[in-house]
Amino acid sequence: MVPLQASESSITEDDNVKNRTFSIWLLNQLSFSLPAIDMQHLWLVHILVNMQNALEKKLPFSDFLVFFDRALQFTEAHFLHEETLLTKMGYPDLDNHREEHRRFVNHLLKIREVSNSMNYEQCHKLYRLLRGWLFGHIAKEDKAYARFFEHRNLKAKAIAECAVDEDAFESEPGKLYRELLQNFPEQGQDSDLIKKTSQIVKENNLITGVPLMDLQHFWLIKLIIEMESVSETREEERKEKLMNALAACQFYIREHFRAEEMLVQQLDPESYAGHKSRHIGFHEMVALRKKEAESGNIRAAWALLRNLKEWLYSHIVLEDMHYARICRGNPQKAAQVARQAMNTSNTVPQKKQLDFYRAVLRNYNSK
Ligand SMILES: [Fe+2]
Ligand SMILES: [Fe+2]
Ligand SMILES: [Fe+2]
Ligand SMILES: [Fe+2]
Repeated sequence: MVPLQASESSITEDDNVKNRTFSIWLLNQLSFSLPAIDMQHLWLVHILVNMQNALEKKLPFSDFLVFFDRALQFTEAHFLHEETLLTKMGYPDLDNHREEHRRFVNHLLKIREVSNSMNYEQCHKLYRLLRGWLFGHIAKEDKAYARFFEHRNLKAKAIAECAVDEDAFESEPGKLYRELLQNFPEQGQDSDLIKKTSQIVKENNLITGVPLMDLQHFWLIKLIIEMESVSETREEERKEKLMNALAACQFYIREHFRAEEMLVQQLDPESYAGHKSRHIGFHEMVALRKKEAESGNIRAAWALLRNLKEWLYSHIVLEDMHYARICRGNPQKAAQVARQAMNTSNTVPQKKQLDFYRAVLRNYNSK
């Protein structure tokens, strides 16, 4: 996406169309968090914006027709894809949905037959018809199946059915969708995870205001939410999955503590020893409970997860907030130490962590 500060002249026509597409997408909340469906709906919006642009700029009639043909072809392909998905998912209102699709395509095909002789007014009317129908259909009929997946606990299955493979990501619609996700990850399949993380942060007052620490805390919360979702997997796999996820979380916590201790040592030296010993206490608690969980049943593993969660949230509120206040009072020094911590403890955030952090913050601030 083009940075907002880019000068008028450096923004190309394509960028304008793209920015307009993303704005329409975001303002109308068109995401269902179903990758392939979102990618296709986004591309339909993009074609519509191109049609609008051709009309506004009074581009040659042939340009408008090219976009109309594209809209027609892509709409037909999208409808087929959607119907295949709804069949696989056992959607009860499939017949009506398919009928709606058919009626609309037939109507467009009739218009296509006479479209070569259309005047400007008629082109405008056709654009408004397409826009009105597609937006209305996505907001009502398509939204109905997305809700059905959610209410019947079929969301994970639907997401798996809608996966976008590498080849599809290389297509024009795929590239546009990827760009949307890079800028707004909350529009993708992680949207629930982002919302839940933001909700937990809010309910437990977990924002410290120190970017690196918040980033790591958000990532830990995400790991915990993912661990809890193990309960939705097959029973025989649960314990192994849970223990593996716990080990990954334990590893990340170690990294987090290392970076945090550097910050505390330099910015809040008086509390360093106490804070560090609380971290050590945590490691000991996890090691002990983990042994019980490994030799015991799955209940012990769930108890370990509960402990870990409770400990972390209360530790952030009670202990981490203390050094965070000092960091906020001296942001320059805090930023300098954070940079140092990233260099020496090798905890440079990965891009996906940075994107996740920004998405959670956006969600947190939007309420
Ligand atoms: Fe659709
Ligand atoms: Fe549809
Ligand atoms: Fe922390
Ligand atoms: Fe801490």
